[in-house]
Amino acid sequence: MTFEIDRRAFIASLGGAAAVAGLSHEARADALEDYAIRKLDDDVAMAQGQNAPGGQPEKFPTAAEIEARIDGSMNRRGVGNLFTGTANRPIMRLEPMPKKPTLMDFFNLRFKQAGAYNHVLQSATRAMKTGMTEEVIFGCLLHDVVQSLIKVDHGWWGAQMFEPYVPEKTSFGVRYHQALRFYADEANGYEYPDLYRRTFGVDYKPEPYIEDTYKMIRKHKWYIEPRMVTVNDLYAFDPNAVVTMDPFVDIIGRHFKQPKEGLGFDNSPVAHMWRSIAFPDHPL
Ligand SMILES: [Fe+2]
Ligand SMILES: [Fe+2]
Repeated sequence: MTFEIDRRAFIASLGGAAAVAGLSHEARADALEDYAIRKLDDDVAMAQGQNAPGGQPEKFPTAAEIEARIDGSMNRRGVGNLFTGTANRPIMRLEPMPKKPTLMDFFNLRFKQAGAYNHVLQSATRAMKTGMTEEVIFGCLLHDVVQSLIKVDHGWWGAQMFEPYVPEKTSFGVRYHQALRFYADEANGYEYPDLYRRTFGVDYKPEPYIEDTYKMIRKHKWYIEPRMVTVNDLYAFDPNAVVTMDPFVDIIGRHFKQPKEGLGFDNSPVAHMWRSIAFPDHPL
């Protein structure tokens, strides 16, 4: 399991930059290890749905506090995971793709590192167990993998990238899960997730285009497609869950129109998106 150290929070926990400057390298390393261990414990506790340590309910940041973190950051929050490293996981050379890559090649050689691989497998596994249609199961399997390329507006980017190759209901589910996830629907079993209080701020209000999209989709005859993607979206990553691609191989075979030239080389309007994931180190 990997996790990120929030540098500012770490320095603040030691009493600020001046206090850190007074520590020996050894003392700093010890403090960092201690901080990392506690952080891991907190993350596991959070993943298990417990309150923050000390029995206090978790205190979520405000949207303004989250915005303040932008200044001085090394990358924008919406950048694709394939294009940015962390202190614990620097960028490394990628395995080359085969000449005519398939969807499965992208899963194995790119999404596994940077495309929310475990998360989408867990979501699709849950969708299969709860008896969803194949279009919804497939939507769950694909719903977040475009985050390897770009995270901002990932519903729209993801749907566009898959649209030429998947059933219409599947790309519809991928596109609109992004807007629906901010709106609870108790009748269908969807609660607003704590992860969003943490990620967007406790007082976050979706932007007008998201609100408008929600209102439009709420009345759409296919509302249930993206709604079921959100219902099966699992917000607590379970490091112990055993999930594999095996149950989905047939669904991909039945519903994905694999281009014979390989993804990225079929001259489709979205081929460049696949190539950008295949070759993220091309400088221009
Ligand atoms: Fe998503
Ligand atoms: Fe998701």
